[in-house]
Amino acid sequence: MRVSPKILFDDCYSEYAIAAVNVFTMEQVHGLFSAAQEADSPIIVQLTPVARNYANPLMLNAMIEAAAAIYPEVVYSVHLDHGTEKHAFSAIKQGYSSVMIDASHDDFETNIKRTKAVTDTAHKHHIFVESELGVLSGVEDDLSVDEAHARYTDPKQAREFVERSACNSLAVAVGTSHGAYKFSGRQGLQFQVLEKIQEQLPGFPLVLHGSSSVNPSDISSINSNGGKLKENASGVTDEELQKAIRYGICKVNIATDLRLLWTRVHREFFVQQPDLFDPIIPGKKYMEAYKDFMIGRFDILGSSGKS
Ligand code: G3H
Ligand code: 13P
Ligand code: NA
Ligand code: ZN
Repeated sequence: MRVSPKILFDDCYSEYAIAAVNVFTMEQVHGLFSAAQEADSPIIVQLTPVARNYANPLMLNAMIEAAAAIYPEVVYSVHLDHGTEKHAFSAIKQGYSSVMIDASHDDFETNIKRTKAVTDTAHKHHIFVESELGVLSGVEDDLSVDEAHARYTDPKQAREFVERSACNSLAVAVGTSHGAYKFSGRQGLQFQVLEKIQEQLPGFPLVLHGSSSVNPSDISSINSNGGKLKENASGVTDEELQKAIRYGICKVNIATDLRLLWTRVHREFFVQQPDLFDPIIPGKKYMEAYKDFMIGRFDILGSSGKS
């Protein structure tokens, strides 16, 4: 059943979180929905502009609708991830449950103005809007503490941002970054920033981007099967995710982990079976590994059994 994220967030706030997973391919849609059905967990299926450009928005919608028919017990939302106004307006027409307008690299006033332009239209269609305040980027070792802090969400701006932009959830920059190389400065999640944001916005759903765990055994298997990923790959720990939930994180965005899993499964398979060239055998292995991985994530996030 397709639902608004509002229903999911009202239910989970401060107790558990919803995994919001980026999908690009048929195998990922199967993996995600089969995991959600087996774990009885709600999910957010999210599509980036890159995914829409790769697969075509019509193909993505058709795959998601087919998955909803194949796995009829799944409670899910469909979300546009990291959109501009153009993507947001198109996603609204295409029936998404929610859209993210990402104007986080603009100045405060421009970010508010761009977000408000999307909420004005989205709310007429009862569509939920996520916006981001602060800059989500790798905080490098050579950044000073002040420079690092300039990128985090400023708790003092959070409430004004939400009130003036009318966004329905807020993506916060609290130390995570996208991709497989997080926390190069070993700084971890900034709970003192997150706590102050929650004080400003009690009960308001917060979103954590860059939430992949970056499993070290995936990295080493990829590298021992011909890959060349850097050894300093690292992600968010399970303990950090669980603590973040208590500070109002309702939506946990995951993309990198399923890319690493794809690479690990396919590299292992073709190294072990160099005579084969059939996509459906490793494809099946990927779907199964994807399902197992996501069932584990739902347990960590506390969403198992919450559909
Ligand atoms: O932030 C979300 C995704 O990791 C970005 O993926 O832009 O390659 O679709 P994409
Ligand atoms: P990861 O790169 O940690 O998977 O983050 C994904 C994300 O934030 C999608 O919006
Ligand atoms: Na998003
Ligand atoms: Zn993101």
